[in-house]
Amino acid sequence: MGYIKSAALEETGYVVLDSYNQELDPKEWQGIEYVDWKSSGDTRFAPLASAKGDIECNGFWNHQPPRTDKDGVWIPSQVEKAPNLTRRAQEPGANVGRCRVIELQPNTYADCLYNLHQDDNNRLNPDGTGWVVRGFFNLTDDKDSFFVLRDNRTENDVEYRIALPAGAQLIVDTQRMWHAATHPGPDPRYCLITSWTSGPELDAYIEKYNGRTRVPNVEVSQEVLDAGQAEQARRDAARAAYYAAKGQAEKVAMSEA
Ligand SMILES: [Fe+2]
Repeated sequence: MGYIKSAALEETGYVVLDSYNQELDPKEWQGIEYVDWKSSGDTRFAPLASAKGDIECNGFWNHQPPRTDKDGVWIPSQVEKAPNLTRRAQEPGANVGRCRVIELQPNTYADCLYNLHQDDNNRLNPDGTGWVVRGFFNLTDDKDSFFVLRDNRTENDVEYRIALPAGAQLIVDTQRMWHAATHPGPDPRYCLITSWTSGPELDAYIEKYNGRTRVPNVEVSQEVLDAGQAEQARRDAARAAYYAAKGQAEKVAMSEA
C-alpha cells in the first residue's frame, strides 16, 4: 500500500518555505525549560509536545504502549511560555508528534559531516497512513550557519546546504535524507523542530508558503569541503577501530535527533 507522502518532497527530500518574520515574536525559546538530550552535536532540547505531556524527549516508541511519532501531547507549562511557537507548529493543521526547540552549541562543517544522521520518525508507523516528516523553523539569526542534507552520509555528490537566518522555514524528510547543521556560532543556535504527518493539510501549507524544492547552495570553499570530507572519514575510521578493539559491532547510525 505504501505511505502517504508529499509530492513536494519527492525530488530533493526538502522544501524551503517563505521566511517568517521572526522579529515579531518575543524570544520565547529563552524562557522554556530545556533538558539534556544527546543528539547530533552538543545539544539540549526544550519539548513543547512529548509522548505523554512530560518534559522529556524520548521517542514515542520507547514509551508504554510504544507508538509512532504522532499525537504528541502538548506540555501546558511550556506552551504557556511559548504561545507563538506552539501556534506555528499547529498552523499546518497536520498531526503533530514530537515538537521541541533544539539548542545547538557551535561546531564546524567537519563536525556536521560526522554528525550526519537519519531520523527514526516512522518507526511503528502503520502502512497506508501519513509519512512523518519534520519542520525546522530557525529562531536565532544564524547568518553563517547552514543545514546540510545528503542522500548518502559519506558521499558528497549530492549535498544541499541551506542557509539558516532568523525565520528560515524548512520541511525535510529526515528519515530519507542524512542531515545535520553547521553552526560556527559564537552563540548557541535555536530551532523549532516539529514532526508532522504528511497529508493534504501539510501539502496545502507547503503550497501556501511557496515551498521550493531547490534553493541556491550556501557557498563553501573547496578547501573547507575537502577538509571536512577527510575529517569525517578520519573520525569514522577511528570509531570503527574503537569498536573493533572492543569486539563490538559498530554503531553505524548516529544518535537520533
Ligand atoms: Fe535529526
